[in-house]
Amino acid sequence: MIYLNGDFLRIEEARISVLDRGFIFGDGVYEVIPVYSRKPFRLAEHLRRLQHSLDGIRLQNPHSDSEWTHLLQQIVALNEGEDQYIYLHITRGVARRDHAFPQGVAPTVFIMSNPLLTPPPGLLHTGVVAISADDNRWLRCDIKAISLLPNVLLRQMAIDEGALETVLFRDGFMTEGAASNIFVVRSGILLAPPKNHLMLPGITYDIVLELAQANGIPHEVRAITEHEVRTAEELLLTSSTKEIMPITRLDNQPVGEGKPGKIFALFYQLYQSYKQTTMRGNSSIS
Ligand code: PDD
Repeated sequence: MIYLNGDFLRIEEARISVLDRGFIFGDGVYEVIPVYSRKPFRLAEHLRRLQHSLDGIRLQNPHSDSEWTHLLQQIVALNEGEDQYIYLHITRGVARRDHAFPQGVAPTVFIMSNPLLTPPPGLLHTGVVAISADDNRWLRCDIKAISLLPNVLLRQMAIDEGALETVLFRDGFMTEGAASNIFVVRSGILLAPPKNHLMLPGITYDIVLELAQANGIPHEVRAITEHEVRTAEELLLTSSTKEIMPITRLDNQPVGEGKPGKIFALFYQLYQSYKQTTMRGNSSIS
């Protein structure tokens, strides 16, 4: 079952107008929220980022955090699986086609949930293959906008080459992946690019840095050069649906020793135990 503008429906029954500004202009924002044991994970943080995205496109939030929480609880209850991922999507609504914002138009609100399939152990054992490309997206990558054409094209480049992800470089520095954040390990130190307008402020990215801080693991948040990525000991990829994965080949070259490294193993364990703790109701890291 999905939620669309006040109704709970089967997805086959859901209808939106061809004049929806999401369809016409890609004028909207979204969130992807993992659900473990039927509990949305880091919900407050996802709702905060949603507000940031809405502010970024000057669209009023149609719901309070408690209304969102209630809607998401209902969607989770109506769908199968203990572990799910919620897709939440808001557009500027239905109006005659005109670039200017329409006045007095209600936004379109769509929520669906699907089973969450975390990466299979085999893939975590071998690591994944990535390619790289120039980051040709706009300069507001901090907004989780539904207009994802550059990300779609960049990620398809990876798929076409039998890889999982595309690591992006802008002006000689690493920004993120086409649909993930990227961490680099050098001299045993975990490096993360600083959050700014060139990347999505990942919720999983924040968890990794919080875990590094809480566990006294050496880490630095700073600009990372393309050369540093290409000569890294380890590369890690993070996202709400992929959690933490090791990248073991980049552009047909092995990353470090070409197999998942020690820092990956450490963070993978820390992340899994943080998940367990959160599901038992205690979400603080330190
Ligand atoms: N994407 N960067 C980009 C461009 C992303 O699309 C995503 C996630 C991330 C990771 O953010 P988080 O840890 O909050 O999931 C970084 C989601 C999963 C998607 O579009 O399906």
